Amino acid sequence: MEEHCTDEILIDKQAIAHRVDEIVDTIAQDVGEELVVVGILKGSFMFLADLMRSFHRHRIHPRIDFLTLSSYGAATSSSGQVKIVHDIREEIEGTDILLVDDILDTGRTLFFTKKLMIERGAKSVRTCVLLDKKARRAVEFEADYVGFPIDDHFVVGYGLDYDNLYRELPHIAKVTFPD
Ligand code: IMP
Ligand code: MG
Repeated sequence: MEEHCTDEILIDKQAIAHRVDEIVDTIAQDVGEELVVVGILKGSFMFLADLMRSFHRHRIHPRIDFLTLSSYGAATSSSGQVKIVHDIREEIEGTDILLVDDILDTGRTLFFTKKLMIERGAKSVRTCVLLDKKARRAVEFEADYVGFPIDDHFVVGYGLDYDNLYRELPHIAKVTFPD
């Protein structure tokens, strides 16, 4: 974790706030009243909190739950293995689920989680990510709602981390590493 730099802002906080409202406007047209929003921790916590506040404008009252999955640790590429570290507690059989993650990268996390929710009897499973790194996909997967497509750089902030750091940034920043 030597001298990397996180000074370059890729998406600022105004742009994020604006896009969150747009996404929720779209979701609100698609979902029923019985919605369970499931956040994938830790990366989704800030995005999910803003999505929830935005649902208020539509008088939609989702239930909420969290799923903690194994993460990269200090590495910047996925091991390919997805493991449940902490499971949801809500009964999801017959409910409409909105799965929320910070970023869609190889696609393994959301592919795994969506399949799991369907196997457990969810009525429908929609997926929502703030960022989409399409170029990195290893399994065939597209999210239903995407905030911003981005090129293949490692990013932090607004919940996203490098070695569990920089989640507090109110914007998305590019991480640059020394050669
Ligand atoms: P996937 O399973 O490869 O799609 O990976 C998704 C997970 O990888 C996300 O939930 C993030 O935690 C992590 N991830 C992927 N790309 C980045 C990045 O650029 N910065 C921080 N975390 C990332
Ligand atoms: Mg992460």
